Amino acid sequence: MAIEFEGKTAVVTGGANGIGLACARVLAEGGASVWIFDLAAERPAEVAEGFGARGLAADVTDRAALEAAFARLGAPDIVVANAGTVFEHDLDSATAGHWERTLAVNLTGVFHTLQIAARLMKPRRKGSIVLMASTNSWDGEAGFLAYNASKAGLLGLLHTAANELGPHGIRVNAVCPGLIRTRLTTGFFGNPERMREYTRHIPLGRGGEPEEVAQAVAFLASDLAAFITGATLLVDGGQMAAKFGTWREPAAVFETERWRLL
Ligand SMILES: NC(=O)c1ccc[n+]([C@@H]2O[C@H](COP(=O)([O-])OP(=O)(O)OC[C@H]3O[C@@H](n4cnc5c(N)ncnc54)[C@H](O)[C@@H]3O)[C@@H](O)[C@H]2O)c1
Repeated sequence: MAIEFEGKTAVVTGGANGIGLACARVLAEGGASVWIFDLAAERPAEVAEGFGARGLAADVTDRAALEAAFARLGAPDIVVANAGTVFEHDLDSATAGHWERTLAVNLTGVFHTLQIAARLMKPRRKGSIVLMASTNSWDGEAGFLAYNASKAGLLGLLHTAANELGPHGIRVNAVCPGLIRTRLTTGFFGNPERMREYTRHIPLGRGGEPEEVAQAVAFLASDLAAFITGATLLVDGGQMAAKFGTWREPAAVFETERWRLL
């Protein structure tokens, strides 16, 4: 069942792939006029055309390009700050380049998106912004130093922006996905042994799909969430609730990407 977005204009950054693309599709299915902003190499206009949306090349780390993209559509009703990147490295092997690029896209890029969106929404006294955070905003999964720092930083942006923008009728919320099947996570989904150990700690016993995150984003973006701001919504199959894991042999077996009880 699609949530109603008739008459709304929505922007999804990083909307040409994965979770962002799923968000753009759900918003478009609900009747929104959707714009996806993404890197030129990802052919955002072409991708958007495939489902009746529009796409523009805009790197979220390039303030001028992002301002120019927003200027094309006027004031948006909904903005999903989703663009993100990840490099897998631990504290010892992290380079300054990895650190700076990760922070530039995942944190500074969201700052630019949020500030531009808020300035456009304020005169209309309405708007809904959804940030793509992560379970890694909260925990310390080893091997993702810069990523975790960038996603934890988003919570600071979230709380402050919700506080400042509430009086202007603008809601700001965040979705925190767990392990979701996209090109960023092929190192997990393509590796059965790694998946078995990872999903052992997920009560629902599997990784998630981009569409399952998109439904949570759509809810927070919509008028159904009219009294919700500054909130984080975990979309993680219960992972953050399961400190010492859920699934154990011999009561359960892992097969084709998921656990099931015997
Ligand atoms: N896949 C997961 O398990 C997972 C879990 C938690 C959070 N997330 C977050 O979800 C978001 C989407 O990731 P995904 O898994 O769909 O990966 P993805 O690579 O499929 O999508 C990310 C999109 O962001 C775009 N992008 C990257 N840098 C950009 C930039 N500088 N300017 C504009 N666009 C840029 C990419 O081109 C791509 O289209 C990210 O913020 C990611 O951190 C993903």
